[in-house]
Amino acid sequence: MTVELTGVGAGLEGYAMLAAQVEALLAGERNLVANAAQLSAFIYQEVPDLNWAGFYFVEGDDQLLLGPFQGKVACMRIPFSKGVCGAAARERRTQRVEDVHAFPGHIACDAASRSELVVPLVQGGRLIGVLDLDSPHPARFSAADQAGIEALVEAFLAATDC
Ligand code: SME
Repeated sequence: MTVELTGVGAGLEGYAMLAAQVEALLAGERNLVANAAQLSAFIYQEVPDLNWAGFYFVEGDDQLLLGPFQGKVACMRIPFSKGVCGAAARERRTQRVEDVHAFPGHIACDAASRSELVVPLVQGGRLIGVLDLDSPHPARFSAADQAGIEALVEAFLAATDC
């Protein structure tokens, strides 16, 4: 299950193929942890130039708790008030950060990270958590990457009981 992705930016066509593969991969299983584990591994394998890909899930009123991921060990808990993940949860809006060093409050789990994309997971109006992707390359994530990863999150949410 590999897709030819050229260079740093997978085009929208590449992501359309990835979305179809995610639907196939998650078909028949609706468990949150199992599907999140599969999606983090799938993204880490298929999207080039990442050093971390994984989930944080909402815990209580104002915290994120580490979920399934690929990459180096990471922060366990992130308050909504902190970091790129916290901003995505608070604002319920994707955060595409070209230079993490310029983002106030960025939490450096892996010192190699230079850019980051965090997509909130919202199902039935409820915030479930966030999907966080990190890259060692500055400005790794284009608008096309954002749209493509958001489409993968939509496929994941449609396939999963949260
Ligand atoms: N950099 C994130 C923290 C999570 S790690 O990158 C895995 C942030 O600032 O929210």
